Amino acid sequence: MVKIAPSLLAADFSRLAEEVAAIEKAGAEWLHLDVMDGAFVPNISFGADVIAAVRRESHLLFDVHLMIEEPIRYISSFVKAGADLITVHLEACKDVKETLSMIKASGKMAGLSIKPNTPADAAYPYLELCDLVLVMSVEPGFGGQKLIPETLEKISLLKKETQRRGLDVLLEVDGGIQAENAPSAISKGADVLVAGSSVFRKPDYKEAISLIRG
Ligand code: DX5
Ligand code: ZN
Repeated sequence: MVKIAPSLLAADFSRLAEEVAAIEKAGAEWLHLDVMDGAFVPNISFGADVIAAVRRESHLLFDVHLMIEEPIRYISSFVKAGADLITVHLEACKDVKETLSMIKASGKMAGLSIKPNTPADAAYPYLELCDLVLVMSVEPGFGGQKLIPETLEKISLLKKETQRRGLDVLLEVDGGIQAENAPSAISKGADVLVAGSSVFRKPDYKEAISLIRG
């Protein structure tokens, strides 16, 4: 069954503890945490201290999506903050292999993300080091955008390539996921769907999650 990772970016920041408790109760498996530095993306969100505080309130798998330049500088901070999975952007790393290796050496799952205009095969040289590949289905930086349908083709390509090579790599889609387009992402092979506004901006989180799951 596909896993749902609600994105904290769309939650009510004045009530984070309540929001994460509600999302766990509503049946989410993962919590997606979007870290933005105002340099790699034109927006600033939150950092390791906020994640550490939320960590104390939740048992969910913490899926930390780093939209920051040279993320290698901050891997140890996010490990300490309680991340279970740390995803970095291929476009933001000077040395992708070294960055993924550092995440794995700290005992955490390593993810590699690609922006909408980065082709799927750009990730192929790194798949052996990845526990997950995150396909961005919007330009990173903001929640609440419309999914770019063409990006979903990359899920099919990555699924084929990982299967061909016998690799156990999860595929995650992030941006603009809603109940209407989730079936298309799932049919292409997505294992995890990030959902921000389509969960946290709905009155009933449980219903919102089950509608996305289909
Ligand atoms: C965008 C973030 C996404 C975003 C998803 O840069 O990486 O995780 O919060 O939000 P929705 O689901 O509203 O597009
Ligand atoms: Zn994200």
